[in-house]
Amino acid sequence: MTDPWWKSAVVYQIYPRSFADSDGDGMGDLRGIIQHLDYLAELGVDVLWLSPVYPSPQDDNGYDISDYQDIDPLFGTLADFDELLTEAHARSMKLIMDLVVNHSSDEHAWFRDPAKRDWYWWRPARDGMEPGTPGAEPNNWGSVFGGSAWEYDPATGEYFLHLFSRKQPDLNWENPEVREAVYEMMRWWLDRGVDGFRMDVIDHISKDPALPDGVLSVGQSYANGAPHYLNGPRNHEFLHEMHEKVFAGRDALLTVGEMPGVTVDEAKLYTDPARGEVDMVFQFDHVWIDRGADPWQLVPLKLTALKAIFGRWQAGLAEVGWNSLYWNNHDQPRVVSRFGDDGDFRVESAKMLGTVLHLHRGTPYVYQGEELGMTNAPWDTIEDFRDIEALGQYAQAVEKEGRRPDEVLTVLRARGRDNARTPMQWDSSPQAGFTTGTPWLRVNPSFSEINAAAAVADPDSVYHHYRKLIDLRHTEPAVVSGDFTMLAPHDEQVYAYTRRLGATELLVAGNFGATPAALDDLAGWDDAELVLDNTGQAPSDRILGPWQAVVYRRTVSP
Ligand code: GLC
Repeated sequence: MTDPWWKSAVVYQIYPRSFADSDGDGMGDLRGIIQHLDYLAELGVDVLWLSPVYPSPQDDNGYDISDYQDIDPLFGTLADFDELLTEAHARSMKLIMDLVVNHSSDEHAWFRDPAKRDWYWWRPARDGMEPGTPGAEPNNWGSVFGGSAWEYDPATGEYFLHLFSRKQPDLNWENPEVREAVYEMMRWWLDRGVDGFRMDVIDHISKDPALPDGVLSVGQSYANGAPHYLNGPRNHEFLHEMHEKVFAGRDALLTVGEMPGVTVDEAKLYTDPARGEVDMVFQFDHVWIDRGADPWQLVPLKLTALKAIFGRWQAGLAEVGWNSLYWNNHDQPRVVSRFGDDGDFRVESAKMLGTVLHLHRGTPYVYQGEELGMTNAPWDTIEDFRDIEALGQYAQAVEKEGRRPDEVLTVLRARGRDNARTPMQWDSSPQAGFTTGTPWLRVNPSFSEINAAAAVADPDSVYHHYRKLIDLRHTEPAVVSGDFTMLAPHDEQVYAYTRRLGATELLVAGNFGATPAALDDLAGWDDAELVLDNTGQAPSDRILGPWQAVVYRRTVSP
């Protein structure tokens, strides 16, 4: 059997509201994307993933959808969308949509239709409790964005479940009508020409229908209900059914499930082609690595722990299933600020991080601006933040728990989702060339130095390094199909591994620090071909320079 096309593909994520604004309203749009397609084609990416562009009250920046089969006027029209699709295809790029069907918006017609009450999770107050009074919620689950996961509706005297904001009621996947409506909508987009879907929190769709209380930790008002809704009893069944009813018989699609909390063993089931569920999943282990028990404490990266995580995923999906590889997306801080050095070694460390990630086995995802080495936003007041999660957490921490504002801001500056959402930096003109108006979120002041125009013009930029990484995946079969061996798992500074396919062996090594680092495993590679390097200097005496990354290739006896 030939390998599916997406094994040698690189995906680029566009966050439309922050990518490019064509009409000066401060909000990115579809025509803005069309204007920059040549830039993306030059980078060499194979697939574009669009974060949601559907009609939405924008409570969670479009992850609250009020109509699944249209385009929000903020972003343009269906005609603009069709043009984008045609223009992307004309440049040999595919396009996948964000599919947000764990929940809809509370402004969706389905939610407003009394005949469709069973399309959502409506429940009466807890036994013996007066509806709408404190503690009367049907269970004790907290919402991901803070507060209870239940909203009381005085008109009907019942509550509805929302794992995210109160404007994102959870759909009831137990109801076959809900599932059929979702599948029909998906087929409609595929018939229009889209090439697949990124499925938002798709491991949340099957809940234990009893909705039992979660375990309440000391001092917490709400419990973590995740054991009752993460990877629930019918999750595999639902995804298999979706596969049968939507994807079967259609070629050349890409499906990737966002699955917070998924384990390697579960991912193997989700991505086993023989089971017909999804092509790959986004796991979260490596982006939860710097979370402490106290959410308001910053935990530094421990490289050996990162290696253990990726090593486990590489080994677990070596024979069956497939990995997706990412540092960044619209929910994560910028990786160069998080695990690299966004000061003196910004360029070197951004290239090193890209190199180490991309040459694993799996499909790499690049988030807009990552290819420029864009950095976290230096905001020092909560007024500059727009993200519903950051604002909710700030209010909870400062107003309810009495934390110091500066302490909370320090953490939001390092980990908040708005870090990823500042406008794309196109050039050094006002507002970074993103808009002629006032951007919906402030432009990062780094734009005069960090921008696409400067990066494209500079052969040593992060952009050109990413271009080479993408090209290497397209031209070197060992990157796509080679087996994976982690080296030096106990080394706290150097991340190194080999990839081998037949007689070709690659060595990838990256220094996660500003001091030179020795790597004994470099022995035997002195005469090998140096395929890629981020400093312009081959290592001597097996020593990698500050934030250096190297890729060697040699021929071995099979
Ligand atoms: C996913 C999205 C995130 C959104 C949440 C609720 O995690 O990536 O941006 O807030 O789901 O839809």
